[in-house]
Amino acid sequence: MKLEDVKKIAVIGSGAMGNGIAQVCAMAGLKAVMVDIKQEFVDKGMATVNKSLDFLVSKGKLTAEKKAEVMGNLSTSLSNAEAVKDAQVIIEAVPEIMSLKKTVCAEISAAAPADALIASNTSTMSISEIATAGKNPERILGMHFFNPAPVMKGVEVIYAKQTTDANVDLLCELTKKIGKVPIKVLKDSPGFIVNRIGAPNQALISAILDDGKLKTDSIDTIMKAMAGMPMGPFELADYVGIDVFYHTLKYYSETLSPEFKPGKVLQNLLDSKKLGMKTGQGIYTWEGGKAKIDASEQSKDIGPMDFLAIQINEAVRVFKEKIAASAADIDLGMVHCMRAFAGPFTLGAGMEPSQLADTLNKLHTRFGLKIFKPEPEIVDGSFKTMK
Ligand SMILES: NC(=O)c1ccc[n+]([C@@H]2O[C@H](COP(=O)([O-])OP(=O)(O)OC[C@H]3O[C@@H](n4cnc5c(N)ncnc54)[C@H](O)[C@@H]3O)[C@@H](O)[C@H]2O)c1
Repeated sequence: MKLEDVKKIAVIGSGAMGNGIAQVCAMAGLKAVMVDIKQEFVDKGMATVNKSLDFLVSKGKLTAEKKAEVMGNLSTSLSNAEAVKDAQVIIEAVPEIMSLKKTVCAEISAAAPADALIASNTSTMSISEIATAGKNPERILGMHFFNPAPVMKGVEVIYAKQTTDANVDLLCELTKKIGKVPIKVLKDSPGFIVNRIGAPNQALISAILDDGKLKTDSIDTIMKAMAGMPMGPFELADYVGIDVFYHTLKYYSETLSPEFKPGKVLQNLLDSKKLGMKTGQGIYTWEGGKAKIDASEQSKDIGPMDFLAIQINEAVRVFKEKIAASAADIDLGMVHCMRAFAGPFTLGAGMEPSQLADTLNKLHTRFGLKIFKPEPEIVDGSFKTMK
């Protein structure tokens, strides 16, 4: 199949991610059918797209005519088999439950044309395992959008064990056609590229909470002031949801290293249903969508250098494990999927290796976690030659 043969996309699941993905495809002039298990769910998906397009029209970013054209490209269905039978690309965005992903994969791969690409938008699950349930696994792969899909530019395109180069390349071409930046992920490994690089910083957040001596307010305040982050890391954990944050760490503890195990404070917050913004209480108290943070002090202890050193160290591991094709791809992923102003290799190029190694060694000693230990390429500075 060639890019010009791709005319219709089927998006399975019209929830938070599915409707955004369908919108992006329809805006690129493709026919997009959104599927769900109940009429009210597809209706809600369509209403969300409609609202999102109205917003673009109100901002002068879309004409009313173009909006009508986009809406005309969209349709809905309550049958996966029916929706995929004439689709060239199928993007699965059903909930993160392995048994469900496998059932859906079996169903759609049996009903779709034999060469239709079948992409999963999973954030954490093994795509190779999902693919074991499907027919023609050489066309099954990952297509990881970031939330909100219409806004975030980066999309990770992920090889499963049996995916062919031609199919990955075709999905990368399609990703460009829908206005996104594809980041090739060569290995179906936990957290792929972008979330994996953020994983040890999540462990640091948990370790700081358990340490109990450091004021999260002052760390968030310095991160916003010095690193230009719209939210500090603790505020962000509350915003995303303590349950989501906890389960991500738990998943990494089972797949990457036991050191990622969520700590006592996170466990207590989860058990007492203090889940952050959505419950009004988490690490912080939330009111009117805002966390109550005491911004009077900036941390003189933990700050941007610590979070950055950890990120660069993990990027080196991702490079060495050959999960990404190049250091440039890792940087591209962090910029377009995380809205970082520059990637870890670009930022690391201007830094003293000894300063990075010292920072990491101190964190390792202080929190007793080996995941913070500097890689040899950080210590000798050779990470700067990684291309
Ligand atoms: N929410 C995020 O921030 C985010 C970001 C990146 C990736 N993801 C991934 O995207 C996927 C979907 O996440 P979400 O947040 O959109 O979930 P969601 O719960 O908002 O939406 C999932 C939708 O799938 C529907 N569904 C369930 N079973 C189905 C079936 N058999 N056939 C068709 N539809 C079915 C549900 O009714 C629901 O509407 C997950 O794999 C998640 O890990 C989520």
